[in-house]
Amino acid sequence: MSHSEIWSGRFNEPVSELVKQYTGSIDFDKRLAHWDIQGSLAHAQMLHESGVLSAQDLAQIQQGMKEIKADIDAGNLKWSLDLEDVHMNIERRLTDKIGDAGKRLHTGRSRNDQVATDIRLWLRDEISTIRILIKELQSALLKLAEKNADTVMPGFTHLQVAQPVSFGHHMLAYVEMLGRDDERMADCRKRVNRMPLGAAALAGTTFPIQRELTAQLLNFEQICQNSLDAVSDRDFAIEFTAAASLLMVHLSRLSEELILWMSPRFGFIDIADRFCTGSSIMPQKKNPDVPELVRGKSGRVIGHLTGLIMLMKSQPLAYNKDNQEDKEPLFDTVDTVINTLRVYADMMRGVTVKPENMRAAVLQGFATATDLADYLVKKGLPFRDSHEVVALAVRHADTQKCDLADLPLDVLRGFSNLIENDVYQILTPEGSLNARNHLGGTAPEQVRYQVARWQKLLAES
Ligand code: ARG
Repeated sequence: MSHSEIWSGRFNEPVSELVKQYTGSIDFDKRLAHWDIQGSLAHAQMLHESGVLSAQDLAQIQQGMKEIKADIDAGNLKWSLDLEDVHMNIERRLTDKIGDAGKRLHTGRSRNDQVATDIRLWLRDEISTIRILIKELQSALLKLAEKNADTVMPGFTHLQVAQPVSFGHHMLAYVEMLGRDDERMADCRKRVNRMPLGAAALAGTTFPIQRELTAQLLNFEQICQNSLDAVSDRDFAIEFTAAASLLMVHLSRLSEELILWMSPRFGFIDIADRFCTGSSIMPQKKNPDVPELVRGKSGRVIGHLTGLIMLMKSQPLAYNKDNQEDKEPLFDTVDTVINTLRVYADMMRGVTVKPENMRAAVLQGFATATDLADYLVKKGLPFRDSHEVVALAVRHADTQKCDLADLPLDVLRGFSNLIENDVYQILTPEGSLNARNHLGGTAPEQVRYQVARWQKLLAES
């Protein structure tokens, strides 16, 4: 019996071979099998406890599903395109095994509420995995931050040297971003974790179902309160993909920096050989393939977000077959995010920092000019005036091809006689870092404080 025979009573001819291939989803939705079984078992138990399904039927369904699960785990279940999707494949297999009890499973249920339930069950598990992996990456970044609280590097704006920052502080910026990504995942999971089952095709069912019971069995936090909404809405998937896109954007930005920093023009870091590849023609090459791919794959996830939003925008209520198109982008988003996070944490553990090159770069580009301006303000000069004085001093140093700290005191005093010998302490990169010793500042003491704060947060989670 082919899938069309399940509903073929009203048709004059079987579905064409091309249409079968075009409309079938088994190739990709078989991935939902375990969650589909989980949902079916809860539904069956609820039907039994509501007096719709006999104890014997329930026992047979449970035994049959147990065997099917084992078959799937052993790779022994042959998925059939004739049966269209994962739901009908499993139901048919069950009926082959246990007969009429299998045919009763679908009482009070539709594939429409079934598939929406499956995706939510699956996605909430994947989100939990993603949250663990985000924290692993945060830990790897924290280790680098801890080791490099005192490592000075140029902080950039417009990719021009701006002010000295601690490399640890720079790593902590990403720890913060990832922290918000984790919050977004946790928050979105709350809305994923609502149960559509019971909505049936679109209007609910005539059977005396107990949705609270099914929800409890499946550990759903809430129950979708409107049957039309329950079967047709996919905003939870869009929300997840949006959170995933932001996460990937953060990793893409870090990747861009790693790529720049590994270039000999910067020479700030090295990435362990196992994350790089060579060139088939240029023998000297060591390319940062992993961060480049992360940068590339972020575009792919953002594309999925766009695709899912487009998928929903014109669908009238309730379920439409369009919704079957939610799966591939969603699956690929989850796979891409999980694979990226896995490799990323490992790669960050393989980053070697080159503090001497970072410090040398700080000394080119007048990174402490703001410190000099602040110094003059503290001696009584209004900030706008001091900005101008320092700009002239920088211009002069530039013509001398030296740093501000290399100018003799009498030359500096030529720009402002408020400048005294103590100026040289604040003109060093280390002096500049230490001077920014407030919550959120780049001083090593603050970096150590933030590292400890995050370590505590991660340990508690
Ligand atoms: N394979 C379908 C999907 O992924 C399952 C629901 C189909 N429902 C229907 N009435 N055709 O959305």
